[in-house]
Amino acid sequence: MLDQSRSRYAQTYARWKADPEAFWGAAAKDIDWIAQPGTVFDKDHGVYGRWFTGGVANTCYNAVDRHVSSGRGGQAALIYDSPVTDSKRTLTYSELLAEVRVLGAILRDLGVEKGDRVVLYMPMVPEAVVAMLACARIGAVHSVVFGGFAANELATRIDDARPKVVLAASCGIEPNRVVPYKPLLDLAISMAQHKPSACLVLQRPQLAGTMVEGRDHDWAERRAAAAATGYGVDCALVGATDPLYVLYTSGTTGKPKGVMRDTGGHMVALRWSMENLYGIRPGEVFWCASDIGWVVGHSYIVYAPLLMGCTTLIYEGKPVGTPDPGAFWRVIEEHKVVALFTAPTALRAIKKEDPEATHLAGRDLSQFRTLFLAGERADPDTIHWAENHLKVPVIDHWWQTETGWAIAANPVGLGLLPVKAGSPTVAMPGYEIHVVDEAAKPLPAGVMGSIVIKLPLPPGCLPTLWQQDERFRESYLDEFPGYYKTSDAGFIDEDGYVFVMGRTDDIINVAGHRLSTGGMEEVLASHPDVAECAVIGVKDALKGEVPCGFVVLKAGERRSPAIIEKELVALVRDRIGPVAAFKLAFTVNRLPKTRSGKILRGTMKKIADSDPWTAPATIDDAGTLEEIAEVLKERGFGV
Ligand code: COA
Ligand code: AMP
Repeated sequence: MLDQSRSRYAQTYARWKADPEAFWGAAAKDIDWIAQPGTVFDKDHGVYGRWFTGGVANTCYNAVDRHVSSGRGGQAALIYDSPVTDSKRTLTYSELLAEVRVLGAILRDLGVEKGDRVVLYMPMVPEAVVAMLACARIGAVHSVVFGGFAANELATRIDDARPKVVLAASCGIEPNRVVPYKPLLDLAISMAQHKPSACLVLQRPQLAGTMVEGRDHDWAERRAAAAATGYGVDCALVGATDPLYVLYTSGTTGKPKGVMRDTGGHMVALRWSMENLYGIRPGEVFWCASDIGWVVGHSYIVYAPLLMGCTTLIYEGKPVGTPDPGAFWRVIEEHKVVALFTAPTALRAIKKEDPEATHLAGRDLSQFRTLFLAGERADPDTIHWAENHLKVPVIDHWWQTETGWAIAANPVGLGLLPVKAGSPTVAMPGYEIHVVDEAAKPLPAGVMGSIVIKLPLPPGCLPTLWQQDERFRESYLDEFPGYYKTSDAGFIDEDGYVFVMGRTDDIINVAGHRLSTGGMEEVLASHPDVAECAVIGVKDALKGEVPCGFVVLKAGERRSPAIIEKELVALVRDRIGPVAAFKLAFTVNRLPKTRSGKILRGTMKKIADSDPWTAPATIDDAGTLEEIAEVLKERGFGV
């Protein structure tokens, strides 16, 4: 057994397990409630129960107003650092409060009421964070759509969320190009069945958007007009179980799932995690180098650091190329960051360009304490590289959009446990993790199986999918009764360390971004020349995995397969977005299948990844796998 005695983890986990309601009831005391919750956990409410029913609070109040009232008004709340626009800006808590008051009032004027949805399609600018908080302030439900998604994906989300208003920026800025967001927004609205009644557009100097008469409003003009009159709104009374946001994430079909986050449980869990998991104190600078379009950004760029009274960083740049692989170290030094949270891909990108970490030379990172990694499996090489060069603990932790915070982690605030590279360490309080076989039978230590979590899920996790209780049950609860299915596979070792090895569904993880291969197959299949197709994730040294599509063309097709392959790459970029990183489309004569017609994607992946493989006994024609191996070899894979 490993020595875990120097950490308070074991006692804390045992305390939670002995009495979860007492545990979370105590954690809830760190939140300012307008009305205390009547019950900590109400098992008769919602799909599997609800947290803090009867409680009334406001997330914006807890993230902003309360810090101004308690004397933090002059402290930086947000630091915007944007190497792609060569600009920086700081907003103190008092300034942030003024901004959210004004924007909340503008939203009200545009007709947004408590419970209405507001879609955000914005890059990493301070206005995006102000917008999320302004929605929370008036009790509206925000739904942020990542800027790397195409118009079609935005339209799907608009149709599901049915927003009254959309908040957008005119463009995003990638190192190699300016991405015009406004035309994508206009296209999405024209494609969607649901039409928002207004759009508030942040015109950026790099590329202004064309405004639609009668629908679009200029953000800066509205803000200036409202601010001049001292206009602003106070915080709405929001029920603990009322939604704070809906965030769409890839499901096993092309239709994304609307993960719903509630108000009370979310605040309690995030506040608890900042102190006990991340080991952060109020007033410190916390940097999560993700994007507000992802759950990691929602939780650890916006809500958790602000709930804790920290300074959070909005970084509009990349780990490399803006301008060099020393960008992260520059930001950490300049803004006195104590902890960075990023995806392993970002470190792999830095390591690839600067293997000896020469850009660290001369940097004063003396206040930097911990590096946290999540979003994809942290490979031991990357962890060791970072430990060797940064000389701080490198902590992998595992979570999902659905949970909103870590399922398994190494709780720095409770005292660090020994690190095992390749494992995100142990279950956090609130999560009872089991590894089971297909019949839901628990498996012994060290044996791979499906990872499930005993219900109820802790505060902060999704109570359901947005207006889709039945889909929530079917997707997560029905297969293993009494448990939440994570759709991750892995094992737990004899020390209780969790190892997460991969997904059990069609989700792949590309540069820390979650994507559905099923969604990509739907796009490929819509091409008029494609008879059938399969998309798999293949190993990639930088992005972890990248999608790779195999297509069988319709008989009689005379156009060159090379041209069709190019069209397919463009089609996925156009329908899903550049974030899909779909660049590999291979024409094959036929797809390998079992006798019952199931495509052997798993075996195809092994071939592409150069892993050992054998033809399964159920295969219809063993020659088909050899054909795939041949095509991959010709294109430089699986050799
Ligand atoms: N708006 C528009 N386009 C975007 C975008 C955005 N917000 N974000 C990414 N894209 C585009 C990129 O420009 C790129 O386009 P390209 O095909 O024309 O080059 C494409 O989407 C793929 O982007 P990405 O996967 O980010 O690859 P990259 O090659 O640009 O950068 C890394 C590689 C490793 C530097 C980058 O992926 C990275 O920083 N990863 C960290 C991941 C992360 O923070 N994940 C969040 C979960 S914790
Ligand atoms: P997302 O919902 O985008 O956060 O993606 C969640 C998925 O990413 C999980 O279900 C895992 O498959 C994967 N993932 C996230 N963090 C880790 C980690 N630390 N180790 C292994 N896989 C991870």
